[in-house]
Amino acid sequence: MKLSLLEEAGATILTGKTRKMTNGHSVIEKTKSKTKTQLINELKKSLQRISELEKALAKCEQHEILLREIHHRARNNMQIISSLLRIQSKKTKEKELQDILRICQNRIRSMSLIHEKFSCSKDLAKIELAQYIHDLAIHLFHSHGVDPDIIKLNSGMEDIQIDINRAIPIGLIVNELITNSLRHAFPDGKKGEIQIKLHPINQGKFEFVVKDNGVGFPKDSGSCDSDSLGMQLVNCLVEQIDGNIELHREGGTQFKITF
Ligand SMILES: Nc1ncnc2c1ncn2[C@@H]1O[C@H](COP(=O)(O)OP(=O)(O)OP(=O)(O)O)[C@@H](O)[C@H]1O
Ligand SMILES: [Mg+2]
Repeated sequence: MKLSLLEEAGATILTGKTRKMTNGHSVIEKTKSKTKTQLINELKKSLQRISELEKALAKCEQHEILLREIHHRARNNMQIISSLLRIQSKKTKEKELQDILRICQNRIRSMSLIHEKFSCSKDLAKIELAQYIHDLAIHLFHSHGVDPDIIKLNSGMEDIQIDINRAIPIGLIVNELITNSLRHAFPDGKKGEIQIKLHPINQGKFEFVVKDNGVGFPKDSGSCDSDSLGMQLVNCLVEQIDGNIELHREGGTQFKITF
């Protein structure tokens, strides 16, 4: 009888590897016996599963595209706001007003840069914090027209992946602290250095330091009791990320944030 007829009649097919014996004969090592119908059913099931997975994957890819698009649009909108502020600032000759508008522009820029990083990130849920902080610092130096021979940037940061909930407050904190060092630490063309450090400490926590060797934080005010917006913003944002901030005044100004 033909094999297919035997199978249709319910006979089983031997499946398994062929093994050579020492006497030269070959035997089929019986591992599992299945009817052809059973095999076809299994094949059907696995094809169906592949098709389901393909559909799910297409959905995920669609989500990913949408999420990237959202970051892209958020970044574009922020850039438009920033450009509007730049145009407005050109309408005044008042230095103080121009400074205020530039500081606002940089606060917006620090957030738009985060959306830019997320839209290009391989992992849509996280960005590399060190790279982001470095790019932001370079932008701030540039925006304040700093001569890199007068104020040097010294950064030593380890790669840390961070999610969007923490990236935005951290970005704004970095923006305020570096801006303060650039604006207040080195008056009248004083030479100096700004150091930024980032590294993991224990229990999944990180330490971030911004230090300058400038004139020093005013003796009569602490980091937490400032009336001005900048330091109030920093304290609020540190709370938001469940962090802790310390001010050290030796040899300049140092802010150490753990989060
Ligand atoms: N790195 C620093 N070196 C020296 N002085 C500093 C430094 N950082 C802050 N200060 C002082 O602390 C004050 C408060 O800083 P804060 O950021 O709150 O306000 P601001 O920079 O004057 O204005 P803004 O609200 O726009 O940030 C500053 O005006 C400045 O005198
Ligand atoms: Mg400030």
